[in-house]
Amino acid sequence: MTREISTRSAEETIGFGRTLTELLAPPKLVLLRGDLGAGKTTLVKGIAAGFGAAEEEDVTSPTFTLVHEYRGPQANLYHIDLYRVDTQRELETLGLDDLRAEKGSVLLIEWGEKFSRLLRERDVEISLERDGENGRKIRIVS
Ligand SMILES: Nc1ncnc2c1ncn2[C@@H]1O[C@H](COP(=O)(O)OP(=O)(O)OP(=O)(O)O)[C@@H](O)[C@H]1O
Ligand SMILES: [Mg+2]
Repeated sequence: MTREISTRSAEETIGFGRTLTELLAPPKLVLLRGDLGAGKTTLVKGIAAGFGAAEEEDVTSPTFTLVHEYRGPQANLYHIDLYRVDTQRELETLGLDDLRAEKGSVLLIEWGEKFSRLLRERDVEISLERDGENGRKIRIVS
């Protein structure tokens, strides 16, 4: 299934993220694709809020810590940023398989397409593309 929508602001992207709980019901491995600043982390703010796992403003980029966890009543969200992860060995130290095996887990992975294994194993792919300063095209393949 493919869905495409456009948003005109960060707030709209967050609002769209809030509507994705059913589509992203656990267990899921989700790849978030798009250039730097495309809005991947912004979308996660909405997804986490939708799941009741975090307030929008408490969701920040896991740039340095690599993994942020948000626990909701029905799902544990793991927001992962692989931008600085370059080798298979580094990837393994994150223990993504253990996170996936956890009951109720949803992995939301930025820059996961760097690893062919994650491309193969993903359940859902969400791509964001800039359309002017504040516009974004969002495409979901599941
Ligand atoms: N329609 C929009 N949707 C999402 N973000 C938008 C939109 N318009 C403007 N923005 C702005 O674009 C930026 C997106 O940053 P964000 O951190 O979400 O990107 P990212 O894809 O996670 O980048 P990175 O790969 O660096 O982690 C934010 O500053 C946000 O306010
Ligand atoms: Mg990000």
